Amino acid sequence: MTQIRASITGIHGYVPDYILTNAELEQMVATNDEWIVSRTGIKERHILKGEGLGSSHMGAEAVKGLLKKTNTAPEDIDLLICATTTPDFIFPCTANLICDMVGIRNVGSFDIQAACSGFVYALTMASQFIETGKYKKVIVVGADKMSSIVDYTDRKTCILFGDGAGAALLEADTEGNGIIDSIIRSDGSGYPYLNQKGGGSRYPPTHETVDQKMHYVFQDGAQVFKFAVKNMADIAAEIMEKNQLDGHSVDWLVPHQANRRIIEATANRMGVGMDKVMMNIDRYGNTTSATIPLCLWDFESKLKKGDNLVLAAFGGGFTWGALYLKWGY
Ligand code: UT7
Repeated sequence: MTQIRASITGIHGYVPDYILTNAELEQMVATNDEWIVSRTGIKERHILKGEGLGSSHMGAEAVKGLLKKTNTAPEDIDLLICATTTPDFIFPCTANLICDMVGIRNVGSFDIQAACSGFVYALTMASQFIETGKYKKVIVVGADKMSSIVDYTDRKTCILFGDGAGAALLEADTEGNGIIDSIIRSDGSGYPYLNQKGGGSRYPPTHETVDQKMHYVFQDGAQVFKFAVKNMADIAAEIMEKNQLDGHSVDWLVPHQANRRIIEATANRMGVGMDKVMMNIDRYGNTTSATIPLCLWDFESKLKKGDNLVLAAFGGGFTWGALYLKWGY
């Protein structure tokens, strides 16, 4: 029997117009361009301005562009999954809102919360529906408005994050392309190092939680860095070994964009040259669930059908994951 695989048949991205530069951040907190660029690789990030606009706005823009460029009608979509850590609301989920905004009706849609690994998790989930033959066309969105949970008086975090969204169309492939393998992992004991404590069921929002800034992202950067370097590199190496890949047979590493130094360590461990690493952290910063689809969108014109791509991510939770796919077009 021919194996059905879930192949990415279209990719699109969206970043808001406003660009927050390192120079502007220098006016806001005690930081400087040299520190930010040398420690992270980030030069600027896009920020969503405008009353009443959440992650769904950016996700919907990415999906609208995706439907247009792939000539797909909203009524042909069977399912939409949105990876986000900054949903518009606690409920309803952002995927429901995106569907409504783009005219995808009467199908299932739900969010996945796996912080910076969200897109790898969501692709893994989406691929199951295609591989079983249950659905023909599934959209996976990664959308985050990180500026909504960033404390712009905290220099340790405010320089890192940006806003953006990306969306991928997944369809069945029987020619050997598509998602070949994926590994997802988590370790909730990493929670103290990277979190947003306030606003959920453990610490519902009160004056006190706001006074204590619990509605903002907290990160112990040095601790997270240690775990990220090890786990992202290990899991990328593991998926390569499992699928008999080496540094030559991998055409592209598509890493989560949290820190240029973590990306370089991962590429190094994989034996992949930096010329084969997708990187756009300098322009977008860390957009959480959106980093990987934004990379695919930026590098789309360089990709060839059958290219071997390894996606790798690490994030809050802790969560991490790697995915091996052959590019579908
Ligand atoms: O995407 C989800 C997963 N997240 C990650 O993978 C992020 C992992 N962590 C990192 O990327 C890095 O830890 C950071 C970029 C966040 C920080 O870099 P670092 O080299 O680990 O710096 P640090 O936190 O150890 O701080 C070193 C020094 C400190 O000063 P002292 O205590 O040595 O005097 C900080 O106060 O740098 C200082 N510092 C800054 N200085 C200028 C921290 N932030 C800044 C800043 N500008 N923005």
